[in-house]
Amino acid sequence: MNDSFKPKIIYFLCSWCGTGGSETASAFGLHYPENVLPFRVNCTGSLSTVYILRAFLEGADGVVISGCHPGDCHYNNGNFRARRRVAIIKSILDTLGLEPERIWFRYVAHGEGKRFVDTAAEFNDYIKKLGPNPLKTRRDI
Ligand code: FES
Repeated sequence: MNDSFKPKIIYFLCSWCGTGGSETASAFGLHYPENVLPFRVNCTGSLSTVYILRAFLEGADGVVISGCHPGDCHYNNGNFRARRRVAIIKSILDTLGLEPERIWFRYVAHGEGKRFVDTAAEFNDYIKKLGPNPLKTRRDI
């Protein structure tokens, strides 16, 4: 693992469960790596593929998305739509020459502060092992 590499990680959180998990973590004084940047979206199902791909094109080393557990999405099945979208984005990343594992989806409930923090730390470690986004050094895109 490259210890000097500090990946830029975008963490999209739905405003109900994912953000709730981050707030619970904060309330309990749990910390996550400072290079993991949380972004709130209304529902993971409303998160456009374009925004996710743009994050990679603009230099994100990894993207993680957390929404409500099955049956808990406040917009019926946005979490399932997001999960399907992630599967499609993985194949697009592969086409672009990026490792599909640079994007994760994980359910996080409002009260799961530890799960939120563990996901951020685990993904950060994983991306550190994977190395920088190869698009950063390519000039043909
Ligand atoms: S509101 Fe949380 S995933 Fe839809």
